[in-house]
Amino acid sequence: MAFHTMVLNTKNYWCKFNNRLKGAEMDKMLQHKQEQYGIRNEAMEFPMMCVISFVYICNARCPNCPYTNSEIRADYKDRPLMNDDTFKIIAEQCGEYGAWIRMSGGGEPMLHPKAVELMEYAKKVGAKVGLITNGSRFDEEDSIRLLEAQIDMIEFSVDASDPETYAKVRTGLNWDTLVRNVKRMVDMRNKLKSATKIIASGVNQVGVDIDEVAKYWEPIVDTFQKRKYLTWGINDPNKSADSTPYLPPEEMIPCPFIFERLNIDSRGKVMVCGFDIAAVTDMGNVHEKSIKEIWHGEGFEYYRQKHLEKKAKEIQMCRDCPDWKYRSWKHNYWKIIKTAESKRKEVLSFQESEGCVSDK
Ligand SMILES: C[S@@+](CC[C@H](N)C(=O)[O-])C[C@H]1O[C@@H](n2cnc3c(N)ncnc32)[C@H](O)[C@@H]1O
Ligand code: SF4
Repeated sequence: MAFHTMVLNTKNYWCKFNNRLKGAEMDKMLQHKQEQYGIRNEAMEFPMMCVISFVYICNARCPNCPYTNSEIRADYKDRPLMNDDTFKIIAEQCGEYGAWIRMSGGGEPMLHPKAVELMEYAKKVGAKVGLITNGSRFDEEDSIRLLEAQIDMIEFSVDASDPETYAKVRTGLNWDTLVRNVKRMVDMRNKLKSATKIIASGVNQVGVDIDEVAKYWEPIVDTFQKRKYLTWGINDPNKSADSTPYLPPEEMIPCPFIFERLNIDSRGKVMVCGFDIAAVTDMGNVHEKSIKEIWHGEGFEYYRQKHLEKKAKEIQMCRDCPDWKYRSWKHNYWKIIKTAESKRKEVLSFQESEGCVSDK
């Protein structure tokens, strides 16, 4: 079934459900607790992370990217960049709870003309900031500003360990520019003794030797993340080089995303999860409700309850989600942060002990 048909059906289902749900039933549902899985402790009040689609423009055409392979960007022609006010609403609320604002989306975040300024703002208001980038657009000044703002994480999507493979999987980008920008960012981070963790990621796809990619980048950055190849119901699943699931589908283990994070598009609309990149589900808009209200709203509670009861297949979106099996309660962003932070500390303390970090 086509992705759009599938998500539209989910929407119909959700509307019918909304009409059925009444007071006592809703109370019972909202109070549900589950021991092994369930809302993460750190997400009891507010999501641990708001993943934002900050831009829908890109300077690359990666063949594995669902935005290259769909018409989603065309749907955002009226709002290719997130407005300042939308960003600030999200940043301020993340700041209040010390949550992450993760800058990603349907394109390259550094193409947003106010990217650096807005990330500085998010740090000032107390949010943790994570940037996912293709690494093509950093000059020295941007790099210094981000490091001095102490943004928490920069993830370079590298995907290759040589120029030939890079040209195939990161079409339109330049290998030498990437290597220069990553190395400069790490060198400056070390000189400035910035708190920013710097990692590299690679999609485990056919045509790429992911172990070679890891071997090349691991000594350069704080840690390397192997990403499972995802389809979002759009990409060709045969391009995956490792389709072993983290969550075996027959076990119906709840999807961790709805218990820790949410996704927001450039218009401020909240989607149920990162699978819904076409933004068909509508959990509320940050211009109309607080993120906390949306997080505890009927929409999220409905999805959570169905997952905890192992009835998520009653929801068409989840039943047809090809990426659910690649989510994990263990191998996740939180683990990567810890690994990267201990490596960052190790590098800085080693350099200090060797007397090779200049005081700024
Ligand atoms: C869509 S990109 C947006 C940010 C930025 N343009 C970049 O490339 O890093 C976000 C992340 O999704 C990853 N990605 C793209 N296609 C993927 C796929 N088929 N499976 C898994 N991850 C993918 C990218 O490598 C990147 O790390
Ligand atoms: S650089 Fe990022 S957003 Fe752009 S095409 Fe590649 S994966 Fe997609």
